[in-house]
Amino acid sequence: MIRKINDTEFDKIAIWVKNNFNYTITNHPFFNILVFEDNDILGFLAYNLIYDRIEIEYIGVLPSYQNNHIASKLLTYLFNQEKNIKNTTLEVAIDNKKAISLYKKFGFLVVTVKKNYYQNIDAYYMIRK
Ligand SMILES: CC(C)(COP(=O)(O)OP(=O)(O)OC[C@H]1O[C@@H](n2cnc3c(N)ncnc32)[C@H](O)[C@@H]1OP(=O)(O)O)[C@@H](O)C(=O)NCCC(=O)NCCS
Repeated sequence: MIRKINDTEFDKIAIWVKNNFNYTITNHPFFNILVFEDNDILGFLAYNLIYDRIEIEYIGVLPSYQNNHIASKLLTYLFNQEKNIKNTTLEVAIDNKKAISLYKKFGFLVVTVKKNYYQNIDAYYMIRK
């Protein structure tokens, strides 16, 4: 099942994300998280909904559950749920081949390279219209 988490769950999910992906999420008014659950949380998608734009912050699936289309289902759910979106953008490390091919599958195109975006790793800035 995929669902959007509510504010009361934020702290618990933030710890789960930090422990499993070493990624820090910060709550703010534009911030949303979708989770994929099968008893436990197996994957998540964190994004900012800024009026008619979406910025994807992070998408993660627990390693032993990867390659089962969980990330694809999270993205499909996102684009079905959020309507009238002008564009969706994200940054992804240029060596993250799997994530890049996932995003391309959903129609994201590379706009530019952001040098040293992740400390000393470059990132692609991608957009989906
Ligand atoms: C990237 C990530 C979220 C993908 O999750 P997932 O649930 O395994 O992804 P899916 O099963 O939906 O795979 C989607 C697509 O990835 C691509 N893919 C899968 N394995 C791949 C590989 N080894 N090399 C290249 N592309 C690959 C395919 O296009 C696949 O779609 P298809 O099977 O329909 O052809 C997951 O690997 C992950 O959590 N990685 C660590 C965190 C991360 O790097 N997040 C991205 C931050 S921007």
